Amino acid sequence: MSRAFYVTTPIYYVNDVPHIGHAYTTLAADVLARYRRLKGYEVFFLTGTDEHGQKVEKAANAAGETPQELADRVMKRFQALWEKLDISYTDFIRTTQERHKKGVSKIFKDVMEKGDIYLGEYEDWYCTPCETFWTETQLIDYKCPDCNRPTEKLKEESYFFRMSKYQEQLLAHIEANPDFIQPKSRRNEIISFVKEGLRDLSVSRTTFSWGIPVPGNDKHIIYVWFDALANYITALGYPEESGNFDKFWPVDAHLIGKDILRFHAVYWPTFLMAAGLPLPKKVFAHGWWTIEGQKMSKSLQNVVEPNMLVEKYGVDAVRYFLLREVPFGLDGDFSHSALVHRINSDLANDLGNLLNRSTAMLNKYFGGTVQAPADLTDMDLAYQEKTREMVRQVDMHLEELAFSKALQAIWEVVSAGNKYIDETAPWTLAKDPVQKERLATVMYCLLESQRIVYQLVSAFMPQTAVKALSYLGVTDAPNENGLRWGGLESGTQVTKAEALFPRIEEKAE
Ligand code: MSP
Repeated sequence: MSRAFYVTTPIYYVNDVPHIGHAYTTLAADVLARYRRLKGYEVFFLTGTDEHGQKVEKAANAAGETPQELADRVMKRFQALWEKLDISYTDFIRTTQERHKKGVSKIFKDVMEKGDIYLGEYEDWYCTPCETFWTETQLIDYKCPDCNRPTEKLKEESYFFRMSKYQEQLLAHIEANPDFIQPKSRRNEIISFVKEGLRDLSVSRTTFSWGIPVPGNDKHIIYVWFDALANYITALGYPEESGNFDKFWPVDAHLIGKDILRFHAVYWPTFLMAAGLPLPKKVFAHGWWTIEGQKMSKSLQNVVEPNMLVEKYGVDAVRYFLLREVPFGLDGDFSHSALVHRINSDLANDLGNLLNRSTAMLNKYFGGTVQAPADLTDMDLAYQEKTREMVRQVDMHLEELAFSKALQAIWEVVSAGNKYIDETAPWTLAKDPVQKERLATVMYCLLESQRIVYQLVSAFMPQTAVKALSYLGVTDAPNENGLRWGGLESGTQVTKAEALFPRIEEKAE
């Protein structure tokens, strides 16, 4: 039986165009999906768009189109970007799809019938841009504590979800499952939040109409977060519990930004408890990117447009940079100079150069044909062991979503490779016919280590890996067997590699 792995990104609002923050979460999810596929898992990788709610309704009005037209137009921009970034999603869910609406109505109805959703009256401070109600004590100068924009006092009939009822159960779950909310600092925030007490949550609105009506009372629209969060199961066919739902739920990892953690670590689990469904195995909140030291915002016009980055630097350089530069979970700063520096040093100098040197030497000394290795010396064995250790390290780091550490572990072997060349000095061995066997062995170790490096690199930089592997004469798609030392067969024809990453003039940037 094959093992299953389910990973999700948030579904993105269609009232904004895709930027580097969206690209970041989606890339991280893509790396996990690719890595698990390589390991032989059956992977379900879900992304999509969040198309309901007042913000979308307002944006559509402002643009002179219907909300559906707006959603149709903007979601295409997300899909086009994912294609450009080589995102290997399994399914793209839109909250305006029938399958989703059907599922949401069903869950709402089930929870209502159980008595955990009831009709009441609401009076509180509402922040429209954040679609969030706040109590008076949470406001800062009567402004939204999240976005600092004015709030308005709203009184309306509303359905409420009995979130208070699940406070203890949620707390117990968080405490019994240390990996449920990550990173740790965020987990602690959520624990304090829950301990302060959960109030019942308003889960319907009557102030706008773009959304899914409450079953049996269509004056009310289901709260956009109740609607949106359910995408993670409606995409699996829920309420149908056989098939994908059975295979993939509970999800292995919900990847999200830190700003939407409370929705995923408090609201969503309590909704699931009420619906009698298992909770996600992991919710991981990553940090935020600033741009050249500043908060990214439309008004500052410093929004980093991922399409432009890909055109300028290439897709794999962008993929590498975003996951290497900043530990997942911490905030980070995007700058063009940091990106160019990474391209020149890590990609051109270290990675590309190693492949270049080794394939060129094999061509010069053996006409490009891989020779069977003789006995390995201590130096060879150390290099082989480092390569094996990398495979274990990458596995462990990716289990913890430590993308940057996984890449560091790979680059240690890349550096070891460059050092191995300097220490074995193949050009000296080549001068002495007696050393021919030794030279063959050195070349074998060099190429074999890199073959394994590129199996792992394929999760991060798929196009680069395909290119490099084809220079190495490997035609099989990266796979688990390929991670074992010894896969490179003697007789394989290796081509002299061109520069994988041409250097970029730093000054020009
Ligand atoms: N629609 C909701 C999510 C519903 S999920 C059931 C939403 N959408 S969003 O489009 O506003 O944001 C999506 C993601 O982008 C969030 O995870 C958010 O953290 C992330 N980012 C937005 N700006 C960001 C940065 N500057 N840096 C990193 N990520 C950022 O919220």
